[in-house]
Amino acid sequence: MHFTVEAQNRCRPWVPRSSIAIDATAGNGFDTLFLADCVGSQGRVYALDLQADAILRTANKVAQAGYSDRVQCIRADHASLADHVQVEHRGRISCAMFNLGYLPHSDKSVVTQAATTLRALDALEPILAPSAVISILAYVGHSAGLEESQAVDHWIQKRIESYLVDRLVDESNSISPILWVLRRR
Ligand SMILES: C[S@@+](CC[C@H](N)C(=O)[O-])C[C@H]1O[C@@H](n2cnc3c(N)ncnc32)[C@H](O)[C@@H]1O
Repeated sequence: MHFTVEAQNRCRPWVPRSSIAIDATAGNGFDTLFLADCVGSQGRVYALDLQADAILRTANKVAQAGYSDRVQCIRADHASLADHVQVEHRGRISCAMFNLGYLPHSDKSVVTQAATTLRALDALEPILAPSAVISILAYVGHSAGLEESQAVDHWIQKRIESYLVDRLVDESNSISPILWVLRRR
């Protein structure tokens, strides 16, 4: 299974044209580009990343696709994501994607952390649209990744009444990534 593709495929039906989406870990910009495609010219994507390098790569990719007017690239911790969302977009977020871990072929010391990931999820909840989808892709094979995935699992379990949850793993791989797809009930 290609987890990043699976995340996009499962989010796609819930990201209508003209909606507002968040890529909480922009990285190389693949999910940002996907979301920008889904929301169309009247929609908006907020793409956040801690690293300047990631924001640059994402902004370049977005510009090449001709999507600069619908994507806002923001260098920030996703724990503060709600602060960057315009007031009129709050409560209208159709989709938020988290691809946790570190940026491939880059500084591996900048890696998502359980505490800030949970703060980002907490910040996201009040600004979601009624039928929003959240995808969270976690990697257990690097240090801190296991702790982070357990923290995310715990966060989800506490909200199991509020979301329809799909949890996907590759059963043949003992350190398989974990993909959660949450739909607001
Ligand atoms: C696996 S990569 C994301 C890949 C990306 N979705 C793509 O399509 O290319 C994870 C990203 O999370 C970023 N990151 C780490 N901690 C973060 C934080 N607290 N807030 C925002 N971004 C963070 C890293 O800089 C890295 O670019």
